Amino acid sequence: MRTELLELSRRLRRRVRDDRAAAWKLSPAAESGAASDPALRLRRLAERIEACRLCGLGAARIKSVPGVGCPRARVMFIGEGPGFSEDRRGEPFVGRAGELLDRILAAIGLSRETVFIANVVKCHPMKDPAARDARANDRPPAPEETAACRPYLDEQIAIVRPAVLVTLGLSAARCLLASEEPMGRLRGRWSKVVVAGSELDLLPTYHPAALLRNPALKKDVWADMKALKSRLEA
Ligand code: URA
Repeated sequence: MRTELLELSRRLRRRVRDDRAAAWKLSPAAESGAASDPALRLRRLAERIEACRLCGLGAARIKSVPGVGCPRARVMFIGEGPGFSEDRRGEPFVGRAGELLDRILAAIGLSRETVFIANVVKCHPMKDPAARDARANDRPPAPEETAACRPYLDEQIAIVRPAVLVTLGLSAARCLLASEEPMGRLRGRWSKVVVAGSELDLLPTYHPAALLRNPALKKDVWADMKALKSRLEA
């Protein structure tokens, strides 16, 4: 009973703090608490991302897609960039690849709520920015777009402080590992990376969209997810 009451009071305090923050009228006390509140810091970062025009992607996209999930997740999944559906929802991995990612997470007891999901770039890279309502208009981000967006990803990692990063697909693996190796050599190999002054374990795996195209890759991803589960349980 006492534990329940304590939990309830903690939730209420958190709710009040979040509501205050959302109103953008923070008292000096709340302002100092905000510096250590990861949910609030992520929301503020998302506002900066929404206003960002550091590369051309911001001008054509509908919604920015900063990321979603637990502000103190132990594992962060990092994809390439938003596509058609994500551009409309403002949330990563909500199309077919996202449904598969949800199933992969569930298979090892994780969910969108317990991990953090982000992308290398936060705005939809389009082949033809003038045709933003067209399907199949996606392309990988260009190096200069990845470079312009990288500080946002680093800041997300610094706020969430995950123990493990899982990159999904080649763009994310190459971005985080600064490697030119092919996906077949990168996947399933743990590395250490230093981001924002902290050393993290990184595991590259295939992008869920690659599994939709080639279901034979599923067994490799399953092996990677089992390795991730063991690492998180260690
Ligand atoms: N593919 C990605 O890499 N990220 C998304 O958010 C959706 C599809």
